[in-house]
Amino acid sequence: MTTVNSEKLSSARFAQATDAFVEVFTASVDFDQRMAQQDIEGSIAHAKMLTHCGILTETERDAIIQGLNQISTEIINGEFVWSIKQEDVHMNIEARLTDLIGIAGKKLHTGRSRNDQVATDIRLYLRSEIQQISAQLVRLQTAILNLAEQHADTIMPGFTHLQVAQPITFGHHLMAWFEMLARDHERLQDCCKRLNVMPLGAAALAGTSYPIDRFMTAELLGFSRPSANSLDSVSDRDFAIEFTAAGSLIMMHLSRFSEELILWSSAQFDFIEMPDAFCTGSSIMPQKKNPDVPELVRGKSGRVTGHLVSLLMLMKSQPLAYNKDNQEDKEPLFDTADTLINCLRAYADMVPHISPKKENMYQSAKRGFATATDLADYLVRKGMAFRDAHEVVGLAVRLGIETQRDLSEISLAELQSFSTLITEDVFGFLTLEGSVAARCHIGGTAPNTVKTAIETARLTMNQ
Ligand code: ARG
Repeated sequence: MTTVNSEKLSSARFAQATDAFVEVFTASVDFDQRMAQQDIEGSIAHAKMLTHCGILTETERDAIIQGLNQISTEIINGEFVWSIKQEDVHMNIEARLTDLIGIAGKKLHTGRSRNDQVATDIRLYLRSEIQQISAQLVRLQTAILNLAEQHADTIMPGFTHLQVAQPITFGHHLMAWFEMLARDHERLQDCCKRLNVMPLGAAALAGTSYPIDRFMTAELLGFSRPSANSLDSVSDRDFAIEFTAAGSLIMMHLSRFSEELILWSSAQFDFIEMPDAFCTGSSIMPQKKNPDVPELVRGKSGRVTGHLVSLLMLMKSQPLAYNKDNQEDKEPLFDTADTLINCLRAYADMVPHISPKKENMYQSAKRGFATATDLADYLVRKGMAFRDAHEVVGLAVRLGIETQRDLSEISLAELQSFSTLITEDVFGFLTLEGSVAARCHIGGTAPNTVKTAIETARLTMNQ
């Protein structure tokens, strides 16, 4: 042995010090220090379990807990000195613990490995991030419900192919957004079930020869159970992929909302006024009010989907069990969680201040012949086959376009020139109000149905 690298925690086997660049290249402490509190929480539970099983003494356990609590405070106060020499969050904390309490600090790692330690830390970390994300999601859902309630009977055009299709209520449109978020919420909770399983005890890959009690550690850390297979425990990152997939869906939904808000606030649509506090001006064009928040959220959806793909590719083809590749899981995960919290928060803050321009929405529905289907349905009820009715209404719409009138503005005599089945009562069906009110089955756009949907949504949210 020529040189002993005394800085390395696992140094004795090495004759040479780590290459200076490799040391920086392989270190993760710059980003994984975000899991410091979870690392400490996991270590305290581990020390308690080791003591319970007679592997550590109570004096050692107490010294470890006291030392770790001190380290926790140092980190919170920004006094902790992170060192790249100690590679990652786990070794930095362990090294500091040994500085503080001596030999007992060196015993903490008994019966565990960084492999099960890091797997535990990420799960704990993500569990608490998911709680915060869910809280923002619920705030947004509530904001949407409140706005929908105010606009259960505000009429607007509904679109397919971005062409006016049929009249709907703004409340109904908002409730479509609500439904997407409700599924997103469910997906996050579901992801938590599989995430909340405890890897500690798997050690490096095969388990440990100490008489440990994994149920105790699981309970101390609030996990539902210890994981079932040690190899899988240290190498599984499915939960991270599931989380990022659920996150990508949330962002995809937010990007769809964003797109609509951006379109609706344009001079061409002019359906809504966006709150000034969520928009910015242009440095050159004085008239501009740009919907920056929705645009940025729409943009950020791409980066979260990117993280999902990164994690899938990270895991693809990895042989069992732990590989250093897995260190690459953290940055995409952290960024996904941050992006979700920030975007949902911005939306939850913004939605209550969106003001719909009811008259513009109404006129736009009128201009688009949105009640054409209602006229066809009317003719069918009078005995005409649907395809023939479709044809007749097509002619009426053409007349409307040529003479710049809505269907409800065409005279009875003119309508009767297309079909003698049409009588005075037709006008009850050609109004926008009549059209939306007629769709009163569950899931329909009628104002009363929308109000019921909102009530039901409130009940399910409070469950
Ligand atoms: N920093 C590592 C990671 O993030 C911790 C686990 C390292 N384990 C090991 N055997 N090198 O995955």
